[in-house]
This record gives sequence, structure tokens and C-alpha cells, in this order.
Amino acid sequence: PERTLVLVKPDGVRRGLSGEVLRRIEAKGYSLVAVELKQATTELLAAHYAEHEGKPFYAPLVEFMLSGPTLAVVAEGQGVIPGFRSLAGATDPTEAAPGTIRGDLGRDWGLKVQQNLVHGSDSPESAAREIGLWFPHL
Ligand code: GTP
Ligand code: MG
Repeated sequence: PERTLVLVKPDGVRRGLSGEVLRRIEAKGYSLVAVELKQATTELLAAHYAEHEGKPFYAPLVEFMLSGPTLAVVAEGQGVIPGFRSLAGATDPTEAAPGTIRGDLGRDWGLKVQQNLVHGSDSPESAAREIGLWFPHL
């Protein structure tokens, strides 16, 4: 069955929203395969965000992702890759629709778009790569 990598980013963990994100994943009918609270490292983030290296928001994004623990989650279910991205909503929390995680819970961070609570893999290839990075034993 299809699997995706979800991250509750450090802003979400700090605000106590880990359980709320897990609740929404389970309420939608997806199952949890693995859940782990982890402090990311520069090496892990360089691999995870390789596609964004060189972009202006890359350094602040990595710095933010190092600012506290991240809840890493593997979720499973039919269509879970696009399904979780629709649960998450638009990248910018100020544009994310009500009913989505970012739309309901995200704050107006001005230019700090990186603080958008969650990550979800965007394709089967990304999911396989990202699950391997965050859960090498899976
Ligand atoms: P993820 O699920 O986190 O990958 O979000 P996404 O797929 O909606 O966005 P994308 O992969 O394009 O960007 C990864 C992360 O970089 C985003 O979640 C944001 O945290 C951050 N980011 C993307 N675009 C911008 C931007 O224009 N400015 C800033 N400051 N951060 C950005
Ligand atoms: Mg992305």
C-alpha cells in the first residue's frame, strides 16, 4: 500500500499540535506505520531539502528545522500521498483553505512561509526517498 512521510515541523511540536495532526491523519482513515520524535541534523536536512539548495529561503528553512524536535510519521493508505497534501493545504498558511491543517492552525508569519506546521511527500519517489532518510530501518 501507498506510504508517505509526514513531518510535524518544530513550530507544530512547540505549539503542541502533534496530536492534532495525527488525529487528522487517522480520522481520514490512514494508518500510522511509524512515529518518532527526532532532532533533525544538518546532514539529514541537507538530504531532505536537496531540491531547495541554493534558493533564498534554504538557509532560514534549515535553521528553523534545527530549532527543535520534529515529529516524523509514516502514514499508509490508498492515495495517502496526495491525500495528506490536501489535508495539509497550501504551502503558505495565509493562503491555505479553512478545513486544512495549515488553514485552520497556521498563523500569519509574514515572510516566514517556512513555518507552516507540516511537511508531506509530493510523489511516490519523494516518499520512498524521504522515508529512507527519516526511518532508515523501515
Ligand atoms: P513541504 O510539504 O514542507 O515540502 O511543503 P511544500 O511541498 O508545500 O513546499 P515546498 O516543497 O515547495 O517547500 C518546502 C518548504 O520550504 C515549505 O514547506 C516551506 O517551509 C519552505 N518554503 C517554500 N517556499 C518558500 C518561500 O517562498 N519562502 C520561504 N520562506 N519558505 C518557503
Ligand atoms: Mg515539498
